[in-house]
Amino acid sequence: MWGGRFAEGPSAVMRAINASIPFDKQMWRQDIAGSQAHAAMLAAQGIIGADDGAAIRAGLEQVAAGYEAGGVPEDLALEDIHMVTEARLADAIGTPAGRLHTARSRNDQVATDFRLWVRDAIDNALGGLEALRQTLLARAEQHADAVMPGFTHLQSAQPVTLGHHLMAYHDMVARDIGRFRDARARANRCPLGAAALAGTSFPIDRHATAAALGFDAPTTNSLDSVSDRDFAIEYLTSATQTSLHLSRLAEEFVLWASQPFGFVVLSDQWSTGSSIMPQKRNPDAAELVRGHAGRIVGLMTGLMVTMKGLPLAYSKDMQDDKPPVFECHQLLELSLAAMTGMVASATFRTDRMRGLAESGFATATDLADWLVRAAGLPFREAHHVTGRVVKRAEELGVSLDALPLGEMTAIDGRITAEVYDVLTVDASVASRVSYGGTAPVRVREAIAAARGGAA
Ligand code: ARG
Repeated sequence: MWGGRFAEGPSAVMRAINASIPFDKQMWRQDIAGSQAHAAMLAAQGIIGADDGAAIRAGLEQVAAGYEAGGVPEDLALEDIHMVTEARLADAIGTPAGRLHTARSRNDQVATDFRLWVRDAIDNALGGLEALRQTLLARAEQHADAVMPGFTHLQSAQPVTLGHHLMAYHDMVARDIGRFRDARARANRCPLGAAALAGTSFPIDRHATAAALGFDAPTTNSLDSVSDRDFAIEYLTSATQTSLHLSRLAEEFVLWASQPFGFVVLSDQWSTGSSIMPQKRNPDAAELVRGHAGRIVGLMTGLMVTMKGLPLAYSKDMQDDKPPVFECHQLLELSLAAMTGMVASATFRTDRMRGLAESGFATATDLADWLVRAAGLPFREAHHVTGRVVKRAEELGVSLDALPLGEMTAIDGRITAEVYDVLTVDASVASRVSYGGTAPVRVREAIAAARGGAA
């Protein structure tokens, strides 16, 4: 395709390092679509004849059908999907194939193909995230009243509800959706027609090709058009942020499925056995989601480092933009589907959660708040009195709501029997009615607002 000025062909290693066909063949649909739009525009503008335009368009369909049926041939000598497709087109229609590359370079061609690919990847992520979001909403609604220990420092802190806990993940996922939508809006500009770097002298219609490919508009600067990979990096950063959220949820599932916690039983479909220990139900999928997040961070970092030192405009380093994005897409799709499946099918052991919430003096803050509200103590003093009450309960091996009143009044005479109203975990969560709080009434409102499309 470019051998006119060379006397010798490339060495075998040159060929191997230069070729992107082993991975960019994944973009063949986008490459065909881009070429179809370009050929139609060239013909409409009178840059190529109507006959040639029609021959090219029919030929591209033939090439696509061949790929669909038999895959894309991995011809390293042809370097990449763009040249493989042009060669197949030449096989199919002969001379007119040579007119397709008029007013185009592989630089704007690859930028266009890759944007189309990333746009689909974003749409897939949005679909997967929405499925997870709906699943979290359904499970949160089911467990809006289920009391569990809330943790800080992984120490029992205050009772919360499982619905509230799951809605925390809902809110993360809703932000992820927002990020991918923002990324899509910026990615959806068409670089086709920027040519190699400077634009072209042919009377092309960039708005027509942009519209034909579903882009919102053409990109504005030809140099930026061929050297910008922000759209790929934004896909990776959005995926990274999502994978961090998935990984935290996965980590909680791993912890919760362990015997000491016993908060969740993952369904058989999402558990694996051990080849030696028959009792085992391992949360491998959750562990792999957690592991994949690490790989995704690495892929994001990799492309950032690839791009950071590149002068304008195109450099071949940029061919390395695709493997990390392709791999990230695969990992993210699997992770989203796995987390959705695990959340949907998990059995939450709410009895166990409640028991632990009741055993960890988790209503100590409620006692302190009561001393402020009912007995007028300054919060710092109430905190101190409560600390002594907790110490006494611990000595006697009872929970706060089972500590006899006499024990409490011995510590502070201002405590009365009304205090028992706030010491149960149900009373505690029901009292947290501040906006965004864990009270079941607020959790149900949050679920309803999220269903109303507030994502
Ligand atoms: N395979 C190349 C890539 O993915 C296509 C662009 C090649 N352009 C060039 N001037 N060699 O980046």
